[in-house]
Amino acid sequence: MPSPVSGFSKKTKEEKIDWLLAQYLQEVPNAKETLSQYWNTDASLQALHDDFIENTITNYYLPLGIAPNFLINDRLFAIPMVIEESSVVAAASNAAKFWMERGGFKTKVISTQKNGQVYLNFFGKKESLTTFFTEIKPKLVESIEQVQKNMTKRGGGLIAIELKDCTEALGGFYQLHCTFETLDAMGANFINSCLETIATTFKNEAKAHQSFGQTHQYPEVVMSILSNFVPECLVRAEVSCHVSELEQNDIDGTDFAKKIVRSVAIAHAEPRRAVTHNKGIMNGIDAVILATGNDFRAVEAGVHAYASKNGQYKSLTHASLENDIFSFWIEIPLALGTVGGLTTLHPLVKIALEILQKPTAKELMQIVAAAGLAQNFAALRSLVTVGIQKGHMKMHLMNILNSLEASPSEKDKAVIHFDKNAVSHTAVATYLTHLRS
Ligand code: MEV
Repeated sequence: MPSPVSGFSKKTKEEKIDWLLAQYLQEVPNAKETLSQYWNTDASLQALHDDFIENTITNYYLPLGIAPNFLINDRLFAIPMVIEESSVVAAASNAAKFWMERGGFKTKVISTQKNGQVYLNFFGKKESLTTFFTEIKPKLVESIEQVQKNMTKRGGGLIAIELKDCTEALGGFYQLHCTFETLDAMGANFINSCLETIATTFKNEAKAHQSFGQTHQYPEVVMSILSNFVPECLVRAEVSCHVSELEQNDIDGTDFAKKIVRSVAIAHAEPRRAVTHNKGIMNGIDAVILATGNDFRAVEAGVHAYASKNGQYKSLTHASLENDIFSFWIEIPLALGTVGGLTTLHPLVKIALEILQKPTAKELMQIVAAAGLAQNFAALRSLVTVGIQKGHMKMHLMNILNSLEASPSEKDKAVIHFDKNAVSHTAVATYLTHLRS
């Protein structure tokens, strides 16, 4: 039975590992060696990683792959992707090449506004709160002058503060809805600092304000935090071509286009399909978000909220076939940064941003949207033609071979053999046993 620990964070890395070994890993052979195997030999690089989070005991590697040939607004990109799932990078690369030969991706940023809220309790008369807010609004703005000095110098900062009455949703619930432009920064820290300063000013001003003094019903600040729902920070990516350009092998272009359009329509009609459809999109999006040091949980939460903005969870992509022109597009909210945070700390993130030719946040939004659209196109193309397993299992073959510790020459032979035979764990294991005997 493991026992509780106090002062864990004060222990050294070795002490933390020893504690874990004694408490939870007694039966795992070579656990200490496995954990230390992933430490970086460069002490300063390891120290950098240790400090990203708390209680670090080792590093958890994910592969960083490249999907080349993304033609986006006539510029060619090789997109870095960090992901553990086989087939994803190959699928993105195939879709990128396919569309590069058909004009590439056309992308545009629709809007870049971010937002945050100061949540309030107020059970008095609405008019006194409205009067108070109108009166102190300039003071609220003034109070963040220092916090937003640098941001305003560069052309960003607070855009507006609005008092919202949300009492129909919840008794006594009001909020200060604040909108921001954060330029190339994701802006979470900036927005939260502004909101907390606004909240403090609001609280202090309310205490001294006569309209509440008579009734003793003061507005109360519950909390202040940015929102990861950013439907005003929107990007669009599109591909389109004449159906004749969709003809592949023995597939007719019009039939193929109709199948894709239908598969997207199904993901608009049926949430069960929409979730998997969008999961495939997020394979591409998250991989680029991770490679570029952005917050994939924030992006995930915001994107899925957007997918259900009309009350039902739906596809993030859209497709049409009109006058023999096939169009396929995505519109998603993405609050990204290319400066600050991990972008300046993680050596691999710096490299990823270099590979992407030092994008601005707006450019990164467009690259990420194109990656998501490409991923969805690749998935749908397989699904409505040969099915997903064919390609998947080929990629999966390497994982199985690695797990069975196949040698390079065994791998070469297995790849040839399984080109014509169905891949499964048992089939690969049997094949290797046969080969080894
Ligand atoms: C697998 O990671 C993603 C897919 O399931 C996406 C889809 O079904 O559209 C293939």
